[in-house]
Order: sequence, then structure tokens, then C-alpha cells
Amino acid sequence: MDSIRIRGGRPLKGIIPISGAKNAALPLMTACLLTGETLTLANLPHLVDITTMANLLMSLGVSLHMKSNERGDGCGGRILDLSTPMITDTTAHYDLVRKMRASILVLGPVLARTGQARVSLPGGCAIGARPVDLHLKALEQMGASISIEGGYVDARVEGRLKGAHLVFPQVTVTGTENLLMAATLADGETIIDNAAREPEVSDLAHCLVAMGAEIEGIGSSRLVVQGKESLHGATYSVLPDRIEAGSYAVAAAITRGSVLLQHADATQMSALLKVLTAAGVVVSVQEDGILVSADTAPIRGVDVMTEPHPGFPTDMQAQVMALFATAEGASMVTETIFENRFMHVPELKRMGADINIHNGSAIVRGVPRLSGAPVMATDLRASMSLVLAGLAAEGETTVTRVYHLDRGYERLEQKLAACGAEIERVRG
Ligand code: EPZ
Repeated sequence: MDSIRIRGGRPLKGIIPISGAKNAALPLMTACLLTGETLTLANLPHLVDITTMANLLMSLGVSLHMKSNERGDGCGGRILDLSTPMITDTTAHYDLVRKMRASILVLGPVLARTGQARVSLPGGCAIGARPVDLHLKALEQMGASISIEGGYVDARVEGRLKGAHLVFPQVTVTGTENLLMAATLADGETIIDNAAREPEVSDLAHCLVAMGAEIEGIGSSRLVVQGKESLHGATYSVLPDRIEAGSYAVAAAITRGSVLLQHADATQMSALLKVLTAAGVVVSVQEDGILVSADTAPIRGVDVMTEPHPGFPTDMQAQVMALFATAEGASMVTETIFENRFMHVPELKRMGADINIHNGSAIVRGVPRLSGAPVMATDLRASMSLVLAGLAAEGETTVTRVYHLDRGYERLEQKLAACGAEIERVRG
């Protein structure tokens, strides 16, 4: 099991290229199941989750042709052709689904295309139970009959799904994406109220429109879809990863450095940038990215509450907590989306952070210096939080179980080392 070793205390200076968004690429890849023609996706990041999704899609009958990026280094910006003339298997098996919860995103498209789908229940993960009940209830409203047998969701519909007026009682990102894809091939009009407004949902909607879908209200909490008999192929480029960009913005801030986040789109990150600015970080939007500097004024703690987009993203909570652990003053970090997303706290405390959890909130009191220590990654964003703390800490930090990181951060060590970080991967 690989680990990452960091010697902290060096301000980051330089440019970090931001890759395509993991949480856009995954639903975009499943959209290929909706058509017999070829969907070409560009700017794909090179991540374990993308490979897992590719393997799952191939098991359903999708043929894939990966072309390297213009740099030819097989990393960021890869181009992938996905063709599904016929879905040859309508079952997404447990051994693949258990590796990645986002596999549930094949349920809507396979059911809409073939009238049946059998998908292993994804199960929980470190941050929460992660139920999919809202996905299933909405599909039932569109005429599907759903049963749970042996840990699998079994969904069937006679003929086509029927358009319906869906109201999500709670905002669900992949729930919105699953139902949006299903609605594009349904018979009639589907309204999705309380739809997720994350940029990745809008990216999927724009791609579906390029494939011939009729969708109104993109970016709003009400999506209106006129179902079609079929969709056609398209070429679409994945939007930049706002969570990767935000994570490296914190890297610049926590090391009191100055980094250009190349390709980052500030319009997708306003809640985070507002918090960083309030904390004393200097954020300036450039032609092709965002310059983040913290090499002048002190960094102050700021209160943060996670909310669905356009609120502060839960996927950035662990990272900003690491920043506040080294800031002046105190901050209260409240997590409202997931029930167990403070797994980074005990590890940060091992590095000298002063954090106390009260139910869904953590009180963080900044300390002058964190100290390096061996720490353990538990989930994707918690792992990044520990890397960020290690960049600022005095001495050496070793983060184990970095397979979590490889799911969501492409070439992490290379991108940070290029800005002066003393960081290396230790093969385990
Ligand atoms: C997506 O997960 C993201 N994953 C997550 O990113 C992200 O943290 C999350 O949205 C919230 O923004 C992908 O896009 C692949 P939800 P998702 O459905 O769709 C409850 C990362 O780090 N809920 O919006 O699974 C659920 O328990 C990952 O990149 C139900 O109760 O999240 C949670 O409390 C982590 N029933 C809340 O809603 C349901 O049927 C939001 O979950 C569905 C969700």
C-alpha cells in the first residue's frame, strides 16, 4: 500500500494545471448508454475512478477507445470514444460497484434504454450510509417496478419510462443525474423539482442536449425534460474540477504561497472563494485561471457551513479545516450533508491541531504550527486534508492508504512538487 511522504514548511509558488472534473466525468461516461452512436469525451482526468467506470461500462457492452491527450503523456485531458450499439448485459455486478458508489449512475440510463436494469446496491462508505432511496422512488414514479434482492436493485418497466413530476425531498447530486438521464428517453415531459444545481449536473445536462435531449432550466432547481425516442452521438469536453482547484487553492493558502490554478473556473467556486477571501487569502481571477496568494497578510479563521451548490461544497470541508487549523483565531465548521464527514479530525489532532467536535460542528482553534506525523487516510477528501496539513507542518508527515487520493487527484505529487513542495510517493 503506497504512502505519501511530505516535509512541510515550504511556501508553494508556481502554476498547477487543473484537470477535468471527476464528478462530471463519471456521469458523462454513463450518458453513452443512452445512445447507439459514439459519445466522445475530452479533458478526461487520469484517475482510478475513471478506470473503474470504464471497466463497469465495458461489462455492460460499451466499447471504449482511449486516445491520449495532445501532450501524449497519457495524463490529464485524455480523449475517450464510448460506443454502445447494444447493451449486452443489464447487470452491474457487485465486484465492480463496491469499488465506486457512482456506479449507481448506470441504473437510469440502462433502464431507460433497455427497460430493465440490475445494479448492486453501492453500500455505504466512510462518510455515511449513502442510501439511494430517492433515486429508486423517483424511478418508480416514472413507471419502473423496483425490488431489492440479494443486495441488488432490480428495476423493470414495460415499454418506455413515463414522464412524471418529480420532487426530491432532499437535494441529491447523483439522484438528479440518474433521473435526468432516464427522463431524456421517457415518454412525455418530466419535471425535476429541487434538482441539484452542482456545476457537474449542468455539465451533464449540456452534454445530453448536445446528444439531442430537450432540457430546460439547466443550472436551476427545476429541470424540465421532453423525452425523446432516441439520442445521437456527440463530442463534449469535461469542465474543470472545482474541488481539485479548491484543494490546491488551500495548498497555496496553508503554505502562505502563491499559485496560479490554470484552467480553474471561478464562476463555479464562488462560495469557496468568498470564504478564502474572508480568511485573508488574496484571490484574483486571471485570463486562464485563478491566482491564489497568501504570502502577505495573516490568515484568519472563518465560520463555514456546507450546503448544496451554490452553497459551500461539502467536498471542500476537510480541506478548509486544515487551513483553519493553522489560522489566527477560531472557526466553526458545520457539516450538513453527510453524517460522518469528520474522519480527518483525529488525524489532524495527531499533528497538533486544536479541534473539538460538537454533533455536526467542529470548533477549530488555530495553532502557530502543526507538527509532522504519520497519519492515515480514510476517504478521498480527508486524505487531501492530511496532505495539506503536511505541506504546512514542521517536519515529516507520512500519509498512508493513499489509494483514497488516487481516486480523485491526478498526479498529486507531481503537481505539488512542481510548485516547490517536498513530497514523494513511497511504494508500499
Ligand atoms: C455526490 O455524491 C458526489 N459524488 C460527492 O462527492 C459529493 O460529496 C455529494 O454529491 C454532495 O455534493 C459524485 O458526484 C460521484 P448526494 P452523491 O446524493 O450524489 C442523502 C467526492 O468526494 N441521500 O447529493 O452520492 C445522502 O445520504 C464525493 O468526490 C439520501 O438520503 O451525494 C447525503 O446525506 C464524495 N438518499 C445527501 O443526500 C438518496 O437516495 C446528499 O447526497 C440520495 C442521497
